[in-house]
Amino acid sequence: MKETPKLNITKSQALFEEASALIPGGVLGARKPGDFIDGEYPIFLESGKGAHLIDVDGNKFIDFLCGYGPIILGYREKEVDDAVYKQINEKGFCFTLTQKYQNILAKKLTQIIPSSEMSIFLKTGSDATTAAVRIARAHTGKLKVMRCGYHGWHDWCIEMKGGIPKKFFEDVYEFQYNRLDQLEELMKTHGDDTAAIIMTPLGHPNHQKMQTPAPGFLEGARKLADKYGAVLIYDEIRTCFRLRMGGAQELYNVTPDLTALGKAMANGYPLSVVTGKKDVMMAAESKLFISSTFFPNSEAFIAALKTIEILERENVLDDIWKKGEWFMEKIQALIDKHDVGAELTGVAPMFYITFKKDETGAYKGKRKDFYTQLIRKGFFFTPFHHAYISYRHSKEDLYLTLTAMDETLAFIKDKY
Ligand SMILES: Cc1ncc(COP(=O)(O)O)c(C=O)c1O
Repeated sequence: MKETPKLNITKSQALFEEASALIPGGVLGARKPGDFIDGEYPIFLESGKGAHLIDVDGNKFIDFLCGYGPIILGYREKEVDDAVYKQINEKGFCFTLTQKYQNILAKKLTQIIPSSEMSIFLKTGSDATTAAVRIARAHTGKLKVMRCGYHGWHDWCIEMKGGIPKKFFEDVYEFQYNRLDQLEELMKTHGDDTAAIIMTPLGHPNHQKMQTPAPGFLEGARKLADKYGAVLIYDEIRTCFRLRMGGAQELYNVTPDLTALGKAMANGYPLSVVTGKKDVMMAAESKLFISSTFFPNSEAFIAALKTIEILERENVLDDIWKKGEWFMEKIQALIDKHDVGAELTGVAPMFYITFKKDETGAYKGKRKDFYTQLIRKGFFFTPFHHAYISYRHSKEDLYLTLTAMDETLAFIKDKY
């Protein structure tokens, strides 16, 4: 099987060079070339539509990152964008006081999210997880926090500790997904001082295989929170409006006290929420301060309301599950056929292809080859983050992707 020729990404690279003199690192966080495969992936995009992207050099891709999660319907989803344009043109969205749409959306959330009784709307996932932890601390009068998963870039939870005083994170303890024993041990020692257990209800750490909850894991964490009077927070920034309208808590039937959601709820418009039980949420009324200039802006509320309307009207999540299950089955068949150590994990709306670790480290080369061949062929996956499926991924997109994966796995089989 022949190697696919390298993409021409010269315009991307020129823009990156320019950016590097203007912005530290050129681009932020997970969008850095080193977080993909340096020299292989485009760095700047020109446009996107549905499930498709075009970079600044004119290369075309079927995209499986979905903007790192916000795109549940598709890029430039007309009905959502039109609703936002209408709001901007006819009423406006950034004012001295709040418009009524927050109430409409908060009411809607109480109907679809099991833990939702009251909500606070913010902009980013990091805003929402941080607000949830602050509310839990104010509600319980305790300090310590048990955490599992990535919760954003704020001081209390980010891995890279540069620029953060130790006292900002020294009361935060980490446990691994599906390791109830670790959480039990931590709670034995710190339970009486613990304000919150915050966790992703689905295991999706970057660079690692995804995990669904082992029997008893979510229920056990719920029981521990109750036993020690801690607030159970689900970080559903990736899972809500993707696994179910009511999030992973609906799918796995365990209800937290507070939920942080964001990403997919407004199909790309900046919006996040901390939503939860009234008795816990009410701590935010008088015991703490959450406010920001742009939090009340209504364009994202309008986008979220329209996104929810479409998700419900067109049974979008059913479609995504059906397509995703079919796709995962076919990918697994290719993995079995070529037998090069690839592993498929996750659930239909979000899944990940990794390579089994081996002593020689060959898995790193296979991973690099796999994702390099795919990007060169025009399929945007990344080696270090799981993929998503959106409503606008067509069966044809998925068939084309399977052909590319088949060729790529054959290429790896030949090479190793
Ligand atoms: C599970 C989870 N929580 C929180 C966040 C932080 O969200 P944001 O990047 O919008 O601040 C992310 C972002 O990837 C996430 O995946």
